[in-house]
Amino acid sequence: VNVLAIAGSLRADSSNTAFVRAVVALPFDDTTMGIYDGLGELPLFSPDLDDESPPSSVAALRSRLREADAVLICTPEYAYGMPGSLKNALDWLVSSGELYRKPVAALSASPSAAGGARALAWLRDTLAALNATVPPEASFAIPLVRMKLNRETIGDGEMIAKLRAAFAALRRAVDSRHR
Ligand SMILES: Cc1cc2nc3c(=O)[nH]c(=O)nc-3n(C[C@H](O)[C@H](O)[C@H](O)COP(=O)(O)O)c2cc1C
Repeated sequence: VNVLAIAGSLRADSSNTAFVRAVVALPFDDTTMGIYDGLGELPLFSPDLDDESPPSSVAALRSRLREADAVLICTPEYAYGMPGSLKNALDWLVSSGELYRKPVAALSASPSAAGGARALAWLRDTLAALNATVPPEASFAIPLVRMKLNRETIGDGEMIAKLRAAFAALRRAVDSRHR
C-alpha cells in the first residue's frame, strides 16, 4: 500500500511535520510512504481557475493523490479549525475527486493537551464532503505531540501501536475498495 502523507502546517519547526516525518520513517509491513509538502504553493481556490488546465501546482497535487492508494493527513488547530492552507488544498479536490472513496487517515497533532480535536472534527467533516473513507481506527487526536517524539522518531510505544492499528485499517479499506 502506497500512502501519501500531508502535514497541515507551513511552519518550519512544525510539530505536525515532525510527527508526519516520524510516521513515514516507521517500518510498517507492506506500506511505502511519501510526503507531499506543497500546500504553500497552491493558489487560493477559485472555481474560475478550476478548469481543464488547472495551475501546475494543483495538477501536481492531484497527480500525487491519484498515484496513492491511501492518504494520511495530520492537521494543527488554528482558531478552532484546520489551517486555511489545508482547507484550500482540499477545496481543490472537490471537482476532480481524487479523494472519492479513497482511504484517508485523519489526525490532528498539537503540543497542547486538547490535541487539536476541533480542527480534527472539521477535517473529518470536509473529508466526508469529499466522500473519502476514514476508518475509525485511523482517526484520532494526538495531544502533547512533542512528548510522543524522541528526536526524529516516535518514542511512545502506545502511539506506535495506535499507528499500527491505523495503517492496518487503511490497508483493509484499500483492499475492500479494490475488491
Ligand atoms: C494563529 C494561531 C491560532 C491558533 N489557534 C489554536 C486553537 O484554536 N486551538 C489550539 O489548540 N491551538 C491553537 N494554536 C496553537 C497551535 O495549534 C500550535 O502552535 C501548533 O504547534 C501548530 O502546529 P504546528 O506545530 O504543526 O505548526 C494556534 C496557533 C496559531 C499560530
